[in-house]
Amino acid sequence: MARTISKKVLEDIRFANDIVEVIGGYMTVKRAGTSFKACCPFHKEKTPSFHINPQRQTCHCFGCGEGGDVFGFVMKYEGVDFITAVKMLAHKSGIVLELDEDNGTGDGPNKNVLFRLHEELTQFFQRCLLQVKSAEHARKYIEGRDFSDELTEEFLVGYAPGGWNNMIQWGKKNKFTEAELEAAGIILKSSNPDAKSRYYDRFRDRLMFPIRDIQGRVIGFSGRVLEADPKAAKYVNSPETQLFHKSRVLYALDIARRHIVNAEQREAIICEGQIDVIRCHGAGFKNAIAAQGTAFTEDHARILKRYADSVVIVFDTDRAGEDAAIKTAQIFIEVGLAVRVAELPGDSDPDTFIRENGAEAFGRIIKNAVSAVGFQVDILSQRENTDSEIGTMRTAKAILETISRSSSAVQRAKLIQEAAERLGIPASALQDDLKKVKKTRVREAKPEVVVQKTEIKNRPVEEVELCEHMVHVADIPEIGELVAKYLPLDMISDRCCREVVEASLNTVKTGRSIDEELREYVDETGEIQTFAAGILEAPAKVRGNELSRSDAIKDIILRIWKREKTIERNRLRQSAEENERKQATEINYLLHRFKNWEDGHEAIELEL
Ligand code: CTP
Ligand code: MN
Repeated sequence: MARTISKKVLEDIRFANDIVEVIGGYMTVKRAGTSFKACCPFHKEKTPSFHINPQRQTCHCFGCGEGGDVFGFVMKYEGVDFITAVKMLAHKSGIVLELDEDNGTGDGPNKNVLFRLHEELTQFFQRCLLQVKSAEHARKYIEGRDFSDELTEEFLVGYAPGGWNNMIQWGKKNKFTEAELEAAGIILKSSNPDAKSRYYDRFRDRLMFPIRDIQGRVIGFSGRVLEADPKAAKYVNSPETQLFHKSRVLYALDIARRHIVNAEQREAIICEGQIDVIRCHGAGFKNAIAAQGTAFTEDHARILKRYADSVVIVFDTDRAGEDAAIKTAQIFIEVGLAVRVAELPGDSDPDTFIRENGAEAFGRIIKNAVSAVGFQVDILSQRENTDSEIGTMRTAKAILETISRSSSAVQRAKLIQEAAERLGIPASALQDDLKKVKKTRVREAKPEVVVQKTEIKNRPVEEVELCEHMVHVADIPEIGELVAKYLPLDMISDRCCREVVEASLNTVKTGRSIDEELREYVDETGEIQTFAAGILEAPAKVRGNELSRSDAIKDIILRIWKREKTIERNRLRQSAEENERKQATEINYLLHRFKNWEDGHEAIELEL
């Protein structure tokens, strides 16, 4: 599966995506002279140290060292690989990429066809809702549930007509094959041998909620019945397809993530159902999301953690909802998110509560959310008699189960403290029991996924300094001459440094800028771009007045030579020692064989 994109296309995409605009699409960016500043999205800070340079089209954080070009930014921010970042930016700027991976040679149809199918079908369902005569009851339903036109539009709500073969007809008209409709999960094979058609529609006479991926592309549907029917499932969802993986999809995250990262508190509201999410968004809580037809998984939690530092869980106030809230809290705690749980009064859910009490009241509920432990104590003390010894023990055990999920000592200490106060037990006792819980809990190995945290690499300092000076090579040709003449490039041990030096030297020959040269080094990890962005933002200082730029370069070249010579000498010394040892062993072995020969054992030993 070749996944190559030509340099030319990459440049087109880069040109079409101004870095200031791209970053500005995610967060507030402020002009500062000729460049721009923002609060770094990669570490927590209050004063902006994330610089965006429109001339160079790079960004760099002086706080944490993160940065790079527009592709690198999207990779890190979205937590995606290089190809996906390129695709996202291409898609944004209307550039069509033809990648080999999607040409349908794998299992099932072309993914691009499936995306198009979902998009066109979404529009079809929307038209049905608005225009079709037989959708009158659906329109009534929408009205009855208080969905504004804007909300219906924003969430692309539609209607799947009744009947069994609308989708096949629609597919025929819109040039989608039965195989494609089946791969999209829209139609199912009939098990009835007498059926007129081989297939039938999955979604019939339902209100349709399209589900979008993080890039805003529709990848599946959830369909709600219009009239309560004990025989029919309330919701029918798309099955797992090439596009739709329910354990990874978070409903409305495509909208919510911008609001989560831009808020001072990077907090997400976690609901149980999509209607709750839609209602929250309608009431201005645009950081609300939900899982989709499944319980929350660790994948969900990790994905959310790219954007949020904390979550507020607000589930239905029934026993199932409370249990689910605790389970969900544990999953989020496990990935290191701070978790609070909001308690709605009576028998309610966010949708009902907001409709009956308004946005402000809901805001207070969110504000008053308690910690996961506090919530668990509240719930359990309603269910258990916490005055009895056994009741207290059971409650403590359940709470320690939650606390033990946290890998942060600080978080654990805080939660223990709270549990101790709430239960009236000394914290030290809980601490003791926690150790036991942790020991018995079998932790399955969890591969850390795509979290590309800033790693300030240990590069040789003389090489980094060299790079910082080389940025000035266009203005001071001597430094280029010195390096070209006296420093063999293979003496530079760090790959990124070597390539930055090489690129700087090339600028002298080609007359291009260093940024242009660096683009030759397309690096899927974005490492060079990150490194170069840092260097370009903070070019070299000449220390005091004692050193001219060329003297500084000479000094660095000398240091690198000395270092290399030392390494070489040590290497030689080491191999000389090894040789000596080897010789000694061989001689010893020979002596040993002489002895065997004398004893008459040589033949036997050789046979062995
Ligand atoms: N769900 C599902 N399949 C079902 C029931 C529920 O996939 N048979 C999922 C849906 O994603 C739904 C969520 O679980 O949004 C919560 O279910 P529920 O609380 O029953 O639905 P609400 O969102 O509250 O919908 P409504 O207000 O219309 O009852
Ligand atoms: Mn509901």
